Amino acid sequence: MRPTLLLLHGFPLDHTLWTPNVARLAREAEIIAPDLRGFGTNTAQPAMRTMDDLANDLFSLLDQRGIEHVIPCGLSMGGYVAMAMLERSPERLAGLILCNTRSTADTEEAKQGRENTAMEAEQKGMAVIARAMVPKVLGATTRRTKPELSATVETMIARQDARTTAAASRAMALRPDRTEVLRTFAKPALVITGSEDELMPLPTSQAMVAALPSAQLVVIPQAGHLSNLEKPEAFNEAVIAYLERLAE
Ligand code: MLT
Repeated sequence: MRPTLLLLHGFPLDHTLWTPNVARLAREAEIIAPDLRGFGTNTAQPAMRTMDDLANDLFSLLDQRGIEHVIPCGLSMGGYVAMAMLERSPERLAGLILCNTRSTADTEEAKQGRENTAMEAEQKGMAVIARAMVPKVLGATTRRTKPELSATVETMIARQDARTTAAASRAMALRPDRTEVLRTFAKPALVITGSEDELMPLPTSQAMVAALPSAQLVVIPQAGHLSNLEKPEAFNEAVIAYLERLAE
């Protein structure tokens, strides 16, 4: 049976983050790339309070579709959601792909930064958030060589709902350290990051690989935080090789 890949976007983005990956990965797996609660076309209410709310939404979606097992592939905030899914129902995960993310909780300073972002979204609006975030989420090489991606990401962020963005920022601040949860996942896992990811430096990925009993690390050269969008061929190749390993 073909595996089901559940592609989980980052913050404050939507399912179109996965546009460069879906067609290629669909040759290997069933693809579900939802908009998380309040993002993109998803207008569900009330706003999330925790990453667990999003994990629960996803299990409900899978139940509605009669899908028992999935491989969550979560980028950054999507990775936090994937780890919340792992904690809630490990038996439903046929694999796990964590991209440009971390298993640790926020520091006090980071939590304060989340509150500032939430207030900025509420008070100044998404255009301001979008302009500030683009240079942080795209790697230096991408900003230099693919300027069109800056516009794509800025537009994607700017169209998100400000209240959802504020809620997600506060929800991320509440997430627990899930490093110990990773230790319990015995199946093969994949950790992907970009060599130019300034938001999630390499040691955060190495720490997840060290915690997971059977994980491989792929560092994509010249990619920043949005590795799947910046270097889709390398990203797709890593995921396909992983799916082949899982099927052995
Ligand atoms: C994301 O891309 O989802 C965010 O950078 C996650 C975060 O701020 O921790």
